Amino acid sequence: MELVRTADELAVRTAAARGRGEVVGLVPTMGALHDGHASLIATACAQCGFVVVSIFVNPLQFGPNEDFAHYPRRLEADLERAGEAGADLVFAPGVEELYPEPVHVTVHVGEPADILEGALRPGHFDGVATVLTRLFNLVGPARAYFGEKDYQQLVIVRDLVRELRLPAEIVNCPTLREADGLARSSRNAYLAPTERAVAPVLHRALVAGASAIAQGERDAAAVRRAMRAVAEAEQGVRVDYLEVADPERLRTLARVDGPVRLLGALRIGAVRLIDNLAAAPGVNP
Ligand code: PAJ
Repeated sequence: MELVRTADELAVRTAAARGRGEVVGLVPTMGALHDGHASLIATACAQCGFVVVSIFVNPLQFGPNEDFAHYPRRLEADLERAGEAGADLVFAPGVEELYPEPVHVTVHVGEPADILEGALRPGHFDGVATVLTRLFNLVGPARAYFGEKDYQQLVIVRDLVRELRLPAEIVNCPTLREADGLARSSRNAYLAPTERAVAPVLHRALVAGASAIAQGERDAAAVRRAMRAVAEAEQGVRVDYLEVADPERLRTLARVDGPVRLLGALRIGAVRLIDNLAAAPGVNP
């Protein structure tokens, strides 16, 4: 497995792979790789002959009061992890390589970038769309792999690729969880032991919502209340949102008439966690 820092070196490697007739796959990440990332890389390796993992903590998707400066950066361990999972190449550019100064061009995303995560993190999805447009142009993947863990991001990435006609197929991968239900996340490393013990409540709240729907609850407000009751029963948990949305456009629903997506974000101390779950009438979570 090779580490490449510049767009020029990357272009040489991907052109050679394409020349050999390999399908190029891309797994975009911000590093601090965990089992969730590894599962994306393994899926990419099963489907593509040449898998590029990008590691780039993208300044454009962090708000001024967010954790950009403190986001975990551990390239050595990440290289090992990516190699073990089967990656062929890690692309870890410096900020100036992806955003040569001055930056004049960014991508703006409309609905649903303004709700849920976007309402609490203004500009976040514009930053995600901008970096992905640049990465897709540099790597030229036939397929790119994204986790359902960041469900709203997945919806927006699909819009981006469809509307800008980026010639890549988006593959979504299921959320990998700890045994107690907590979704794997680079930010879990911030949790103090007492906070870690509380953190599975987010998944429990979503499961409670999905169970209510499975058992016939059709009133979305009642589902929201059921999820909130679970989350707020734990000390020190602040709910940012627990929503019932349509799975395609993420619009908030009043009634549950078919498959929905339950999406949640909460804060435990200084740590912010997000998660989501599919739910449908008659389907037990
Ligand atoms: P990052 O948070 O590093 O996540 C990289 C990819 O791993 C995303 O597609 C995310 O959904 C997926 N992922 C994270 N945790 C997961 C889990 N527990 N199970 C399955 N997949 C999981 O998302 C980003 O980086 C950035 O926004 C990025 C797309 C790289 C743009 O900067």
